[in-house]
Amino acid sequence: MFDKLLKRKEPPADAGRLSAILEEEVPAHIAIIMDGNGRWAKMRGLPRIAGHHEGMKTVRKITRLANQLGVEVLTLYAFSTENWKRPKTEVDFLMRLPEEFLSSYLPELVEENVRVTMMGSEDSLPPHTRNAVRKAIDETQDNTGLVLNFALNYGSRAEITDAVRELAVRVASGELTPADITEDHISDGLMTHSLPEPDLLIRTSGEERLSNFMLWQLAYTEFWFTKTLWPDFSSDCLMDAVEDYQRRSRRYGGLKGDGMT
Ligand code: IPE
Ligand code: IPE
Ligand code: MG
Repeated sequence: MFDKLLKRKEPPADAGRLSAILEEEVPAHIAIIMDGNGRWAKMRGLPRIAGHHEGMKTVRKITRLANQLGVEVLTLYAFSTENWKRPKTEVDFLMRLPEEFLSSYLPELVEENVRVTMMGSEDSLPPHTRNAVRKAIDETQDNTGLVLNFALNYGSRAEITDAVRELAVRVASGELTPADITEDHISDGLMTHSLPEPDLLIRTSGEERLSNFMLWQLAYTEFWFTKTLWPDFSSDCLMDAVEDYQRRSRRYGGLKGDGMT
């Protein structure tokens, strides 16, 4: 709808750079807090929703590149449990975006072997949003390529609370004792139970906080922050983040191979 105002084209991802990245370890799971849509629009004198609309194109571009890079899971924070506090018109628009995105791109996702999943509370989503997402999940469930995991109406504290409540029920029924409870019990109770933990977390727009995103799962994730606003996040930005990840040393509290560092 704003496309006429915003004639922008991005060159295709640099093939040489792509193949150099592929020679090193690529993060299996990349999680992105897609932030800055509103500011992007405001800078152009446009309504905030124009930023959300433009951000959708970034989702498409980054999904394609992640797939090309052989990333196994791309988790995108699309709507938090706190985002309901925004004005109704903005929330309504955001709840229409999954339909719009999927009506344009679902055939492409199917063709590219992408499997769509969602984490978050489905129950309070409007039926039209829920149905669009369900359709995408159903139509792509047998795909074996990139898992495109949308965090939609997602809040990490609620997720952990639900997992703990479930364990409390099992303890109350005598199935488990408190002493039996391990970290795996908590991990298995989260919505990410079937996914690897994120290797790389990206947040755009200059904010450096988690905003209730994957608090448990990010314990040993590498963080990468950029001031770039989500609608401006390019293939080069993703490659910058992955290259930076490839230069890092993940120690998990231990020491690197030679025992010296
Ligand atoms: C991120 O952009 C998208 C959502 C949170 C839904 P914002 O809408 O938060 O944009 P800013 O942070 O206000 O610029
Ligand atoms: C986090 O961004 C949520 C999403 C990107 C969906 P917010 O814009 O809602 O976060 P705060 O309010 O700046 O922490
Ligand atoms: Mg924001």
